Amino acid sequence: MKRRTDRPIPERVQVPVWDLPTRLFHWLLVALIAFSWWTAETERLDWHIWSGLAILTLLIFRLLWGFVGSSTARFASFVRGPRTVLAYVRGMHGWRAIGHTPLGALSVLALLLLIGAQTVLGLFNSDNDGLVEGPLAPLISFDASDLVHELHDDVFDVLLAFIALHVAAVLSYRLALGKRLTRAMITGHAQLDPPTEPMRPARRWVALLCLIVALAITRWIAGGAPPL
Ligand code: HEM
Repeated sequence: MKRRTDRPIPERVQVPVWDLPTRLFHWLLVALIAFSWWTAETERLDWHIWSGLAILTLLIFRLLWGFVGSSTARFASFVRGPRTVLAYVRGMHGWRAIGHTPLGALSVLALLLLIGAQTVLGLFNSDNDGLVEGPLAPLISFDASDLVHELHDDVFDVLLAFIALHVAAVLSYRLALGKRLTRAMITGHAQLDPPTEPMRPARRWVALLCLIVALAITRWIAGGAPPL
């Protein structure tokens, strides 16, 4: 009779988790948010507007990729109801699916919504003298412009808090659960226990098409929006 200890321990396998477009999206977003902050602080506002438009392109791309991208990038694979989030929090250690966890997905959605709000506010924003303005600023009244200016400052503070929370969460997964999430966001792969359903990748030309559409929409907005 075979003893329990003779049973082979399943070896961890290297599985694809994040596709290249999602990883590029993430790290370009990080770089552009830092650049936008620096250009605002140093009053390089022309660069700030270019950076904001680049973030807008990334966000439109990510929105499209959330519907037609690889399985782990799709909103349908990670946007979950409160019951699933609660069940996950209660049994965190047993979670085996790849991609965003139900809790991580909440922070991802909050970040995307805040960055989206900040970018849209930037499109309508203008500086104190009205010399440098976002491409859609001429479409709103003077009073509305004041409000947009204030909100663009306030939303950034909230965004900073969420970014700090996001980075703290990633670090605590490493320290408390031993999960190397950052490595997976860089290399695209993670070492996981089998059996694990791998990511189903989308085709590269679909990503290219999403990028072309995102660039076209950004160009239209940068030109002051209507007429089409
Ligand atoms: C400006 C700062 C940052 C922003 C705005 C940001 C935003 C985001 C967003 C939107 C996602 C979702 C990605 C997607 O599905 O497309 C994400 C995921 C992720 N980010 Fe960040 N991020 C920032 C900084 C960082 C840093 C510094 C790290 C590493 C220390 C990091 C590590 C990760 C990881 C590991 C994931 C995947 C989480 C998971 O497995 O569910 N992020 N981030």
